[in-house]
Amino acid sequence: SPLSSKVQETPAEDDNLIVVGVAQVGSESVWRSAHTQSIQDAFTRANGYMLIFDNARQKQANQIKAIRSFISQQVDYIVLSPIEESGWDTVLQEAKDAGIPVILIDRKVSVDDDSLYASWVGSDFVREGQDAGYWLEDYMKKQGREDDEVNIVVLKGTKGASATIGRTRGFNEVAKVQRNWNILQQVDGEFTTAKGKEEMARLLDQYEDIDVVVSQNDDMTFGALEAIREAGKTAGVNGDITVISFDAVDAGVELVRNGEINIDVQCNPDQGKYVEQIIQDMEAGKEIEKAYYVPERVYTQENVGEEENVTEGISG
Ligand code: AHR
Repeated sequence: SPLSSKVQETPAEDDNLIVVGVAQVGSESVWRSAHTQSIQDAFTRANGYMLIFDNARQKQANQIKAIRSFISQQVDYIVLSPIEESGWDTVLQEAKDAGIPVILIDRKVSVDDDSLYASWVGSDFVREGQDAGYWLEDYMKKQGREDDEVNIVVLKGTKGASATIGRTRGFNEVAKVQRNWNILQQVDGEFTTAKGKEEMARLLDQYEDIDVVVSQNDDMTFGALEAIREAGKTAGVNGDITVISFDAVDAGVELVRNGEINIDVQCNPDQGKYVEQIIQDMEAGKEIEKAYYVPERVYTQENVGEEENVTEGISG
């Protein structure tokens, strides 16, 4: 039939392409767009790949569906950035049974059997949260305000996501040993500008005396800054409210430079090339590590022009 002859005509080099199915979280943030770009840059035809990319629009059910479709298409590798940590045992077992290695990127999964994935590449989210906490401790000291009461609100990211869990844990670890830090509320901001603004406006309405906002990504911070302005308050260096943000996308770093954000803890989105390297290593039969951390740094007004201050390199 015309169809089968067409299949036979497929250029021979296509047979050599490594087929990679990528199950991405969504396009909830500026960071996520940069992350997607880094994946698309790594898995090009010129590099020897056929990329099948799925955007789950922040729904785990869509990611599970995408993985099942990758399995039925018999891809060579599955790359998963899991929206949340739980709920992966069944579908990852299906991938394992089909003999398809799964590499996690960005966020992690919480599964009973670690052999359900080959490796993970991403950020040390707990360390990011600690960095934010230690910075605040130091900032208060430098101003001779270490004995002042500090009223803090936290805009958290997507529920159950590694980035949310890690940043919350890391910051809270530092906060709990500070006698005069009061975490007034930790609310869900879903990593989006709209929700960040809405929640911050509500918090400003509820509390007269917020000293610090810890916003777990730049998009929520952009929204929070709008809410602060609309409430007639000022943010950042010399402002009414100290602003701690995460991601350090270009627009975030720009706000550090102009002083509206005090500190932006980087979450490095450039992860595609590391996953590509893992796949090359697996193809070559080399040993791979279970976890690789991407290099990251923090941005403050003091260091924003400098290239150093990278906090951690790739390991493994
Ligand atoms: O998992 C990484 C987080 O996800 C980023 O901080 C956030 O911007 C994104 O949506």
